[in-house]
Amino acid sequence: MEKLVSLSKRRGFVFQSSEIYGGLNGCWDYGPLGVELLRNIKEQWWQAMTYREDVEGLDAAILMHPTVWQASGHVENFTDPMVDCRECKARFRADQIEDALCGSPAYKGRKASKCQAEGKFTEARQFNLMFKTFVGPVEDAGAVVYLRPETAQGIFVNFLNVQAASRQKIPFGIAQIGKAFRNEINTKNFLFRTREFEQMEMQFFVKPGTDVEWFTYWKAERMAWFESLGMQKDRLQFHQHEPDKLAHYAKDAYDIEYKFPFGWGEIEGIHNRTDFDLSRHEQFSGKSMKYFEEQGKEKFTPFIIETSAGASRSFMAFLVDAYREEEAPTADGKMETRVVMRFHPRLAPLKAAVFPLVNRDGMPEIAKKIEADLRPHMRVFYDDSGAVGRRYRRQDEIGTPFCITVDSQTLADQTVTVRERDSMRQERLAIQALLPYLRERL
Ligand code: GAP
Repeated sequence: MEKLVSLSKRRGFVFQSSEIYGGLNGCWDYGPLGVELLRNIKEQWWQAMTYREDVEGLDAAILMHPTVWQASGHVENFTDPMVDCRECKARFRADQIEDALCGSPAYKGRKASKCQAEGKFTEARQFNLMFKTFVGPVEDAGAVVYLRPETAQGIFVNFLNVQAASRQKIPFGIAQIGKAFRNEINTKNFLFRTREFEQMEMQFFVKPGTDVEWFTYWKAERMAWFESLGMQKDRLQFHQHEPDKLAHYAKDAYDIEYKFPFGWGEIEGIHNRTDFDLSRHEQFSGKSMKYFEEQGKEKFTPFIIETSAGASRSFMAFLVDAYREEEAPTADGKMETRVVMRFHPRLAPLKAAVFPLVNRDGMPEIAKKIEADLRPHMRVFYDDSGAVGRRYRRQDEIGTPFCITVDSQTLADQTVTVRERDSMRQERLAIQALLPYLRERL
């Protein structure tokens, strides 16, 4: 993890938020390469989830009517038990003390459970994870709104709007990507548990009685999505929630877990939410949330199958999964360790890099022209500094799938070498053939 965090900063994937002020705990900024990777992940999700006839897209507001969060159960239930250390003032989740360390610099590395055993902690109290703010100029109880802790509620309350506007029939789904906020007591493990993050959620509305079948379908689809983007199968697993650990709305729930350096962690949840959400919104809003099925002339409250992935957590899983240290030969035949990010080509932040072998004999001009011709089609990078071997390593480290080199033979026959990141194999190709070659492989 330390290597990844440092590479992320050095190469511009992820920076600490407000770093020059000492950072803000639980918040991160995506740098030039990070934003490309994140956009590519979201784009792949969007295509997989909405380029089909039975799912529509939505982008609901982050701020919602406060009653939404009463209906959803968040005001009442979205809490974690919290304790404070009377001595060092550190704050812990009462159910995670086993993994925590004492907050005092004087006791560096000491287990928090020891401090607890010595009676230094307060009684546990429930802490609601929703961030509050106010609408309008008056900061009173009547003006309180919340930053949404999940995108799902924006979908539930728009269920009938989307259904009517798109003339969808059940079963169908609504997908959304957006920011969510949780005032986590303990943020940890880089992007894994943060206070501001992004979710990619899809709610699939089905007829009661068909819910188990659709739950099975979406469970398989979602696992296949991670695998289709190259994630190593032996680092992915399902984890079924025990009946006594199910969320208040769920009939069945599976997490897709990824094996991070610190252990298995959830990256996506697939939930059978029953008719809980629509029934509650019907009850709290006084508006019918029922669906009328023409065919059987029947009115019912749909069940919902939810697929809820973290974009930020998936980003971190793809980053971890891509990272390799490999032995590779240098130009003079010695061996060295290369760091290579084996991103799936569709996710790679940059698709190709273009190098002139030397900065003379017209090579830079030809390389610049290749870069300019490719640029409208993909993210490309031009690099003319240092030995070519070093330029390859710099691109390996950020996962660029192809490097194109202009050399003396180019001057004679208008061909270039194309080097593939993982195999490091080089091919000679006519400049004219570059674009179709890259397109096919990307
Ligand atoms: N609508 C259901 C829901 O929000 P969740 O299991 O609480 O379910 C879904 O969250 C996903 O959102 C998680 O699998 C995770 O990827 C991501 N997520 C949740 N809390 C997060 C946090 N504090 N930081 C980063 N990602 C988070």
